[in-house]
Amino acid sequence: MERTLVLLKPDALQRSLVGPILSRFEQKGLKLVGLKLRKFPDEVIKQHYSAHAERPFYPALVEFMTSGPVIAIALEGKDAITVVRGLMGKTNSAQADPGTIRGDYAMSFSNNLVHGSDSPEASVTELALFFGEDGDLVDWTPDQTTWVYSGEELS
Ligand code: RTP
Ligand code: MG
Repeated sequence: MERTLVLLKPDALQRSLVGPILSRFEQKGLKLVGLKLRKFPDEVIKQHYSAHAERPFYPALVEFMTSGPVIAIALEGKDAITVVRGLMGKTNSAQADPGTIRGDYAMSFSNNLVHGSDSPEASVTELALFFGEDGDLVDWTPDQTTWVYSGEELS
């Protein structure tokens, strides 16, 4: 099983899309192991997007991500990182496939509703940044687990 960080960006909250977006992840069968609503400090957002620090869009990206509350979500599942990226759709929402979150609910390159970790290394760093080094996360086993996965997949 793999864990990944998802952020619901300020536009998701402003547009009342938290429920529909969270439902996509829940209904897929991903397990919710962390959930946090905050106006995260500039330093946290800057650190989160530090890989883009030299890019021209970085200041606008930080400003957007600190313009309102963000929801940090930790999800667990088999290949969770790839599965979540697939559910999100392409970065430019106008080009994102119908059926994806960005494809169904957004029009913009920057106001694209969600973030998802893009590699196992990034997920570890990002989960530590938003949920603390010791993992402010909850270990639990939903009763549906044996219906979401086969016995072989769980062993
Ligand atoms: P995110 O990190 O937010 O989940 O988005 P992503 O992986 O799909 O895209 P990424 O390449 O990591 O870029 C992070 C955010 O920066 C903005 N961006 N603007 N104008 C541009 O060329 C450009 N490229 C990226 C987007 O808002 C993107 O979500
Ligand atoms: Mg990214």
